[in-house]
Amino acid sequence: MASDRASEAQPPLSGQENDRRSELDRQIALRKRAAAQAAAELVRDGMRVGLGTGSTVAFLLAALGERAGALRDARCVATSPATARVARGLGLSVHELDEVGELDLAIDGADQVDQEGWLVKGGGGAHTREKIVAAAAERFVVIVSAEKEVARLGPPVPLEVLRFGVKSTLRALGDARLRAIGDRPAQPSPDGNLIADYTGPVDDPALLAARLSATPGVVEHGLFAPSMVSEIISAGAHGVRRRAGGKSAV
Ligand code: 5RP
Repeated sequence: MASDRASEAQPPLSGQENDRRSELDRQIALRKRAAAQAAAELVRDGMRVGLGTGSTVAFLLAALGERAGALRDARCVATSPATARVARGLGLSVHELDEVGELDLAIDGADQVDQEGWLVKGGGGAHTREKIVAAAAERFVVIVSAEKEVARLGPPVPLEVLRFGVKSTLRALGDARLRAIGDRPAQPSPDGNLIADYTGPVDDPALLAARLSATPGVVEHGLFAPSMVSEIISAGAHGVRRRAGGKSAV
């Protein structure tokens, strides 16, 4: 489930820097796995479960896959073709959202989480489907490694934009660019739209979310309000921590 995010040109790393980077990546992967495993325990047989997209969710899928036999009657809804493919390959039962209707639980990663529980999502360009799935779930649980927790959200904020009039849409947004891999545009969303990033200041996430939503041509943005989030499970050097989001339990 590779991200479409463009890789910025970086100067080559020294051997020592390379070792440090690899160790950090290893620590982050362990943290992602710890958060994902804690969330996997929330999934019971018979539940209707939304599955997010990304490398943290890959650990969730692996944990659920180990229990696929015991989760025979769980019905999963994937937020991307990549997640659907992996989940099916692990023996999980994957359905369309409209076949399943409301979900008991959705679990997904995030790129940033602030202190109030605002999220930035869409590093993998799947935020539109992710938002629809999160909104359809009674309980939406976010799984992150602790580095994703920030005092204040910052750019980039992922956008899904219509192809029609994309230059006008980007002009209206001001600080925004189409996502690219090298000099090629990134893969379109599974719904055929383009993925872009808003690169201006975030300052007030609610105000920015309203502005992005009101810009014609923007299909969806990657800001998720705290009122969508039931719980944040974050794993760091301290172990796994849970905090409530802004969505009250039903
Ligand atoms: C994909 C997402 C991901 O949840 C987000 O980018 C985090 O990814 P990862 O778990 O790989 O760090 O929003 O659209």
